[in-house]
Amino acid sequence: MTSEPAVHRPSKEELFLQVGQLKKKLNAVLLAHYYTVPEIQMVADVVGDSLALARSAEKTGADVIVFAGVYFMAETAKILNPEKQVLVPDQYAGCPLADSCPADEFRQFRLEHPGAVAVSYINSSAEIKAMSDLICTSSNAERVIRSIPEGKQILFGPDRNLGGYLMNKTGREMVLWQGYCYVHEAFSERYVLDACKLHPEAVLIAHPECREEVLRHAVFVGSTQALLDFTVSSPHRSFMVATEPGILFEMQKRSPGKTFIPAPRDPENPRSVCKQMKQNTLEKLVECMQLRKPEVTLPEELRTAALLPIRRMLDLSR
Ligand code: 13P
Ligand code: SF4
Repeated sequence: MTSEPAVHRPSKEELFLQVGQLKKKLNAVLLAHYYTVPEIQMVADVVGDSLALARSAEKTGADVIVFAGVYFMAETAKILNPEKQVLVPDQYAGCPLADSCPADEFRQFRLEHPGAVAVSYINSSAEIKAMSDLICTSSNAERVIRSIPEGKQILFGPDRNLGGYLMNKTGREMVLWQGYCYVHEAFSERYVLDACKLHPEAVLIAHPECREEVLRHAVFVGSTQALLDFTVSSPHRSFMVATEPGILFEMQKRSPGKTFIPAPRDPENPRSVCKQMKQNTLEKLVECMQLRKPEVTLPEELRTAALLPIRRMLDLSR
């Protein structure tokens, strides 16, 4: 009987080493979102929220950008850096919120509101960006909305929860695209409040992609970066965190003496973890750098059209 040759599965340490060597060989920068798994965050050159990563992509001097996040983030990096190679560990790690806004339906949405200013969340495809006047992230959305002259009708998409939050914050009426992020939508008032009762020492903090029924109980609402900064500077010692739990790794690292409790999802919702972000693994990361693929590419005409509203956003948030 012949036995199968043993397959060598590299250890985590070997993979860390390989990532380091490949980064040098390619002159690559590795950007990772806070929602990726801790091993990816540990080897990344920059870990950040959507705005910080877009800014890093804009400024990098590297020849290759390796983007561990979801597809629209890597696409944004490519829009900003046409001359650089942009690689992703998993080309199928897309964002369902971005996918909930197809280009033909969005075109129709715009046609139904002539003269309106269209603001799109960065969680959208290049086609949607190209049809938008302004892009925003959750870090700068309020500033972007406030930059629009009073009296102008505003269309906002694709996240209805962030849109509703911005309407409350700015007092501006907006027509909302009815998309949502399944991760943040999974939190409900009832289960979050039950958890808060079990942990009366913890204060609730939430991402604006959560539903209003959750946001109204939070002591602080902000983007992933703003939530992190709040936990560092706050005198509170314990936090109930209503966002994707990947951020707890950095929160705990930055405040080792504090306690972080992931808010529970409503049992009727499938999950409060972003499955797509977790598709970025060390093995896929090494492979994409070795093979120099999957690579993000897009037609030049589309890229230049999508660049315009991204540039406006970056100029507004300097
Ligand atoms: P931020 O990174 O801007 O907080 O957005 C959260 C998110 O859902 C990213 O996909
Ligand atoms: Fe998309 Fe939500 Fe995942 Fe962010 S957390 S990538 S918005 S599905």
